[in-house]
Amino acid sequence: MMIKDAQELFMRLLSETNSAEKQMTRALPKMARAADDEKLVEAFQHHLEETQGQLERLEQAADSIPDIRIKRLKSHAMESLIQEGEELIDSTEKGPVRDAGLIAAAQKVEHFEIAAYGTLCELAEQLGHTKAKEILAETLKEEKSTDDKLSKLAKQNINRKAG
Ligand SMILES: [Fe+2]
Ligand SMILES: [Fe+2]
Repeated sequence: MMIKDAQELFMRLLSETNSAEKQMTRALPKMARAADDEKLVEAFQHHLEETQGQLERLEQAADSIPDIRIKRLKSHAMESLIQEGEELIDSTEKGPVRDAGLIAAAQKVEHFEIAAYGTLCELAEQLGHTKAKEILAETLKEEKSTDDKLSKLAKQNINRKAG
């Protein structure tokens, strides 16, 4: 279907992001099971809870705008990122090296989400959807803080490996 204006583009990107988050609700439990470090397991479990809330926010954002609804489509970008993560799990044993790879895979996902929500916030603002912008900005904040947390865990993991 052709995208004719910024509103339709917004709806398309919102739907893509909804697919991306749904895929993450299935990937995060697997990442938590594959991780070795307790803090990393906890971080994945915590972000799973956040991700479930983020899916609700996407619905709320769509509901706050007349004529907008989330469509069923697949985020191929997220599908590929998750596949890379699964391949990483398959080619490592449980331990610090796999944990480093899991953190790398998770940070790619977070950066992808930060880009997606950054654009959604900007578009919502341009279109005058103030409520939707506020809702999506909450999620953007969570994605950024998850990325920060993973950076810290990556540094601790390097120390763990050396010790
Ligand atoms: Fe997310
Ligand atoms: Fe995330």
